[in-house]
Amino acid sequence: MQAVILVGGQGTRLRPLTTNRPKPIVPLVDRPFMAYMLEWVASHGITDVVMCCGFLADSMVQELGDGSRWGVNITWVQEPEPRGTAGALKVAEEHLDGRFLMLNGDVLTDLDLTAQIAQHEATGATGTLALVPVEDPTAYGLVRLHPDNRVDEFLEKPDPDEIDTDLISAGAYVLERSVLDMIPADRMVSIEREVWPRLVEDGLYGCVHRGRYWMDIGTPQRYLEGTEDILAGRVRTRVTERLAHGAVDPSATVADGVAIADAVLVEAGATIGARSTIGTGSVVGRDVTIGEDVILEHAVVLEGATVAAGARLRDCVVGAGAVIEGHVHLSEYAMVGDGATVGEHNALARGARVTPGAVLPPGALRF
Ligand code: GDD
Ligand code: MG
Repeated sequence: MQAVILVGGQGTRLRPLTTNRPKPIVPLVDRPFMAYMLEWVASHGITDVVMCCGFLADSMVQELGDGSRWGVNITWVQEPEPRGTAGALKVAEEHLDGRFLMLNGDVLTDLDLTAQIAQHEATGATGTLALVPVEDPTAYGLVRLHPDNRVDEFLEKPDPDEIDTDLISAGAYVLERSVLDMIPADRMVSIEREVWPRLVEDGLYGCVHRGRYWMDIGTPQRYLEGTEDILAGRVRTRVTERLAHGAVDPSATVADGVAIADAVLVEAGATIGARSTIGTGSVVGRDVTIGEDVILEHAVVLEGATVAAGARLRDCVVGAGAVIEGHVHLSEYAMVGDGATVGEHNALARGARVTPGAVLPPGALRF
């Protein structure tokens, strides 16, 4: 079976992580975000992937290539202009053979695709939507089910007063090829608004997944939550196998008196100065330099960045090659762009974002 993955979105809420790179290749723990999706489909025996791009970013093709590093074979398809979720699928039509999977390209999950495909076959459905329970369905596609798993109603982005179930569409669908015939060519078409409603009572089923992990990683808060969940093994990923061999790469240099908590990763070539603390949910990227007496807590420091002595980093991301000078405090989802410099004694909190390459002079901000 083939898997079509949609990667058309801009990822604006993850800026500055997505200022210079498309969201699918934003680094998450130790690999590009899309690697998790590719390894997930591959773990269910699906190795033929069609990647539908609204715009074809060279950096994405360069980083993911033919997918072989992640156990799949990628065919790249680009829309002439963004066509919406169904329009993008239509553009990929010539590459699709029969029954296939369609996946939203922005979720971190270990849903049981094998079980969903089995249910799809058993019911003879035209389309089977993966369903997961969430606390607040308003940002998603709400799905009401009949007891036999047929979809009773699909409500994209429901109003609060329409919510009478916690089940939402998880963005993973098993589809028969006939669904492609329902999509007009050459225009913007939303699968959620134009296709699912037409399939209700006509072959649309839901497959309820419980006890599995599912998260849209589109905001800084969820990016950091996802990071910790991967490190702690709360979602099934290949990172868990890697961490079983040690959370600190043998080529990292760790000074005396450094405290390293559970659920962290210290990458190859990193250096950590004396008396520093690497707290739960933190990632010290490749060739990162951490000075003395630094505290990291749920903090991600990307490749090649430098964090000077006495800095405190909590719930924040430091971009690749960025420089955090001495005694800087970052917290509350502060995001520092790649190559930026935060001068000493700055304090950034409450979602402060520093543009890639920007320079904040010492003590300029108490945000
Ligand atoms: N190629 C391409 N072209 N991809 C697109 C386009 C497009 O024009 N528009 C959106 N996508 C991709 C996005 O990159 C994302 O991976 C996926 O399609 C879904 O689009 P989002 O914009 O992220 O939609 P959403 O998160 O608001 O809602 C969707 O996902 C929810 C689950 O996360 C819907 O499918 C909801 O029903 C669902 O609950
Ligand atoms: Mg989304």
